[in-house]
Amino acid sequence: MPVIYDYPEYCQLLFGTRDISAETNFLRTLIDRYSTLDVKNVLEVCCGNALHAGELANHGYRFFGLDRNRNMLDHDISHWRHLEPKPVFIEGDMMDFTSPEPIDFAYVMIGSLYFESLDDMTRHFDAMARAIRPGGLYFLDWCVQFSDPASQMADKEIVREENGIEISSRFKIRVLDVARQFYEEVWTISVNDHGRRRTFEMIERNKAIFPQEFLLFLESRTQFEFVGWWDQWDLSKPVDGRSDIIRPSILIRRK
Ligand SMILES: C[S@@+](CC[C@H](N)C(=O)[O-])C[C@H]1O[C@@H](n2cnc3c(N)ncnc32)[C@H](O)[C@@H]1O
Repeated sequence: MPVIYDYPEYCQLLFGTRDISAETNFLRTLIDRYSTLDVKNVLEVCCGNALHAGELANHGYRFFGLDRNRNMLDHDISHWRHLEPKPVFIEGDMMDFTSPEPIDFAYVMIGSLYFESLDDMTRHFDAMARAIRPGGLYFLDWCVQFSDPASQMADKEIVREENGIEISSRFKIRVLDVARQFYEEVWTISVNDHGRRRTFEMIERNKAIFPQEFLLFLESRTQFEFVGWWDQWDLSKPVDGRSDIIRPSILIRRK
């Protein structure tokens, strides 16, 4: 059954309306402030449309994009073919992939980490530890839950329209197993593409990662150290001592 990721142009409309320059500048600030490496190779995990590839290349970084969807990667390769340094696209699973070159800085955005179990999480961070050079940073946007996942984005509809394509996207989230922190997202996307209608319904079952669990996970392993966590991509807003977090992000460093 086709999934929305088989249609990169629809994903561009759904995910690409963010301020990519501001996001790229934030990544550069993290590199300037927290990296001890001379950063050249930058990896996006679950890159989708690789929205930051162009801006990162303009700043001299070589972009590496990891995704498991072949259609998406083919689209990215064609879309970004003019970039220098040449981007590298890796077809693979975030739980088990090999980067062709050591990575100096990695990031994953808008919660694109999908784990069904602690074992998946362990395999992902093992793969990242193999990919990232000692001293390299890994930035995780919206991947750790500071509130009940079922209350986030619950039943909110997002509608986007551009060039004759209209997309409406709706999430329903419900908890399946409290003890396993396991919840289900039903994501329904309706597309009207110049009069041709398509509907995608995707069901994802994920394990939530809670903040103290994440810190303990890092401490129990030898690969990464915690650097910091903030709200809304604002380094003047560490999450500590706050009761309401809107959009958490976390920075860790490969030991
Ligand atoms: C929501 S989209 C990506 C959005 C992107 N992170 C952004 O900020 O625009 C999620 C992407 O993750 C990819 N993906 C999902 N599970 C994956 C996995 N286990 N390994 C690699 N890629 C995966 C999908 O193919 C899809 O392109």
